[in-house]
Amino acid sequence: MAFDGKTVVITGTSSGIGRETAEAFAERGARLVLIGRNVTRLNETKKACLEKGALEAVVFRCDVSDYALAKKTCAQIKKKFGSVDVLVNNAGYGIYGALRDTEIKDIEGLMRTNYFGTVYFTKELLPTMGRGSHIVNISSMAGKLPLTNYSGYCASKFAIWAFSESIYHELKWDGIDVHVICPSATRTHFFDNESFAMHPHRRQPERMADPKEVAGWIMDAIERGRLETVSPSLKEYIAVFLLANVPWLYHRIMQSRYVKRQIQR
Ligand SMILES: NC(=O)c1ccc[n+]([C@@H]2O[C@H](COP(=O)([O-])OP(=O)(O)OC[C@H]3O[C@@H](n4cnc5c(N)ncnc54)[C@H](OP(=O)(O)O)[C@@H]3O)[C@@H](O)[C@H]2O)c1
Repeated sequence: MAFDGKTVVITGTSSGIGRETAEAFAERGARLVLIGRNVTRLNETKKACLEKGALEAVVFRCDVSDYALAKKTCAQIKKKFGSVDVLVNNAGYGIYGALRDTEIKDIEGLMRTNYFGTVYFTKELLPTMGRGSHIVNISSMAGKLPLTNYSGYCASKFAIWAFSESIYHELKWDGIDVHVICPSATRTHFFDNESFAMHPHRRQPERMADPKEVAGWIMDAIERGRLETVSPSLKEYIAVFLLANVPWLYHRIMQSRYVKRQIQR
């Protein structure tokens, strides 16, 4: 699918999945709006996008968790581009840890960036989106499976999933397609957060997905008009199936894995 001259807004483009997605749209000739907080890194993404064929790439510094800032940024986007063809709500981060060890402000922070950031950009840019446009929300396998030691993160990603599924039906009538993407562990800066110091994934980067692959899922979901894309891992498919159909078995397996991890500590 070509995106020649289409306006594509992506949050969290200074690294990882967001940056790879921006480059994938650049290769298809899009006009890119790159959003994040780290301007140096955003400018690196901008340079890479222009080299790859983007018609235009504009950087906006914005903390998506701040509604006033998000509203102002969306107003600037509206003024500069008029309409938006694709919005990818990708900005987000994770915190790993038991509820007992997690501060309320950290749980609120996850919800504000991951969930409310998605809501703010969707709500503010929606009036600029017409028939044939797309909203892509990045949830996670943690938005399909309530993983232990991820309560704040899981709740924010479940919220994104529910929000997306709900507006999918509303916006279908207006000709706007909604897509929700649920990747599993992906090799990005996500695991740099201090809370992941003891996380097993830090020691096994080879077992993680490539962010380019996730960018490919996003392009594919748009092209095929698919609502939900989940990580193509058999283990995760089985887990989602068990949780939906045999929840007692899912909970028994999760409990035994949790007990095993506690013993290994
Ligand atoms: N990596 C994984 O294993 C994995 C798995 C499933 C889902 N995901 C989801 O994928 C998305 C992208 O993460 P990633 O893996 O690519 O990690 P990443 O490399 O750390 O990228 C996260 C991006 O989000 C931006 N961001 C974070 N907080 C922000 C805020 N308050 N305002 C604006 N931008 C913000 C960061 O930019 P600045 O620092 O410049 O603000 C950065 O560009 C996240 O929503 C994450 O939850 C990741």
